[in-house]
Amino acid sequence: MPHGQKPGQTTGQDTHFGFRQVPLADKQGLVDDVFHKVARRYDLMNDLMSGGLHRAWKDILVTAVNPPKGGRPFALLDVAGGTGDIAMRVVQAGGDATHVTVLDINSDMLNVGRERAQKRALDHALTFVEGNAETLSLPDKSFDAYTIAFGIRNVPRIDAALKEAWRVLKPGGHFLCLEFSSVDVPGLETLYELYSFNVIPQIGRAVTGDAESYRYLVESIRNFPKPELFAAMIRDAGFGRVSYQSLSGGIVALHSGWRL
Ligand SMILES: C[S@@+](CC[C@H](N)C(=O)[O-])C[C@H]1O[C@@H](n2cnc3c(N)ncnc32)[C@H](O)[C@@H]1O
Repeated sequence: MPHGQKPGQTTGQDTHFGFRQVPLADKQGLVDDVFHKVARRYDLMNDLMSGGLHRAWKDILVTAVNPPKGGRPFALLDVAGGTGDIAMRVVQAGGDATHVTVLDINSDMLNVGRERAQKRALDHALTFVEGNAETLSLPDKSFDAYTIAFGIRNVPRIDAALKEAWRVLKPGGHFLCLEFSSVDVPGLETLYELYSFNVIPQIGRAVTGDAESYRYLVESIRNFPKPELFAAMIRDAGFGRVSYQSLSGGIVALHSGWRL
C-alpha cells in the first residue's frame, strides 16, 4: 500500500487486489474472475471455511433488517447479493409483501441464485439484477433497506458504493453491511491468521481446484478498513445514527446506518 494511503481507500491510480497493488481500473475484472471461478461451489465453500458460522452471522443481519411480518410492503436491495442467500432468508423471515432485489456484478453468481430461488419457490418475491454497486441503475429513494454482506471489500470504489446506497434508500431507510473485520481477542488473532492463510486456500484447492481465489479472499479481508474507519466512511456518505457490532471476537462486524 502506498505511503499515506489508508486501508480501503485508493490513490487516484492504484488500489489493492489482495496484497497486490493494481491499477484501480483493473481491480473489478480481477474480482469478477474470482467469482466466475467459484460461483458453483461458493455456498458450499462458505460452510466449509466458516464451519457453518456464516449462517449465524447472516441470521443476525436478517434480524437487524427486521422485515415486517404482516402485509406491509417492504422493499430490500441486497447488493453484491451473489447466490441470493441473504435475499432468500429475508423473504422467508418477512410477510407476503416483502420483496428483495438481488444486485450483483457477476452473472454466474446470479444464475446460481435464480436456479435456487426457483427450486425453493421463492422466485415470486425476488428480482435478480446484474449491476455495479458503484453506479446503481435504480431510482432515488426506492428501498426501505439496503444490505451488503461480504461484498463491499470487493468493490473498488467503496465511497461511491456508499453514496449510491444512501441515494436509493427512502428517508428512514436502513443501511446494513456485514463484513469481515479485525479480530480483537488476544490469542484468537494468531490462530485466525494461521487458519486463514494456511487452511482456507487448501480447502479452496480441494473443493474448487483453485487455491488462488481463496488466497485473494483472505488477503482482501486484511486490507479492509478497521471498523472505526469504515463507520466514518458510512457517516461521510451521509448516513446518521451510525454504529457497528463486532461478532465472533471481531472476525465479522455488522455496520448500521440510517438515511435520516
Ligand atoms: C463474497 S460474495 C458475497 C455474496 C453474498 N452477499 C453472500 O453473503 O453470500 C461477494 C459478491 O460481491 C460481488 N461483487 C463484487 N464487486 C461488485 C460490484 N462492484 N458490484 C456488485 N457486486 C459486486 C461478487 O460478484 C460476489 O458475488
